[in-house]
Amino acid sequence: MASFVIAVDGPAASGKGTIATRLGRELGLPVLDTGLLYRAVGVLTAQAGGNPDDEAAAGATATRLTADLLADPALRTRTAGELASRVAVHRKVRERLLGFQRTFAAQPGGAVLDGRDIGTVICPDAPAKLYVTATPEIRAERRWKQLEGQGEAVAYADVLADIRRRDARDGARDAAPMVAAPDATLLDTTEMTIEQAADAARRIVEAARARWERSH
Ligand code: DC
Repeated sequence: MASFVIAVDGPAASGKGTIATRLGRELGLPVLDTGLLYRAVGVLTAQAGGNPDDEAAAGATATRLTADLLADPALRTRTAGELASRVAVHRKVRERLLGFQRTFAAQPGGAVLDGRDIGTVICPDAPAKLYVTATPEIRAERRWKQLEGQGEAVAYADVLADIRRRDARDGARDAAPMVAAPDATLLDTTEMTIEQAADAARRIVEAARARWERSH
């Protein structure tokens, strides 16, 4: 049987990570936060003294990336998010991370992947696709609270500026820009609690699963 892949795309702090984690837990599917791959490439490139804006330097790091490097809490910081967005513009980086993501998606039974280009580039045939959004202001508020919880003190206005800058860079790049797949279901979580967003996502996926099972 083909694997049931759930693609959860959307901008930073839209709720896609929490939604992906919950869907994975409820359906018993493995989850890959693909942002961590770009975060790791960004952080490791900078740590090695390389320039994240240099395609060759970031591309070389992407070749060396292994799954065990993804658990580092340093990848969750604000700096790591910015570095990730910078290395993510490079085609070489994206190409080198493609195989890892597709192998993960091809696991028997299926998988959940969250990111920016899962439904468009990594798994264009995924039977379930969500594009999760929220206003920049509400996303900044969520990210600000999350950073505070991690002990990273930062002004709300700076987090909002980060979010806007990353949205602009991720959406405007030539290589796999952040965009909703034409067949993705849009889920705007601006006015939703996380419980409501997770419930809405579950209903979308249940409907997609029923369609998929009829055709397999
Ligand atoms: O989801 P995140 O905030 O951890 O992602 C960090 C950056 O990585 C994001 O600004 C753009 C990049 N990214 C990407 O280009 N493609 C993905 N599939 C996931 C993340």
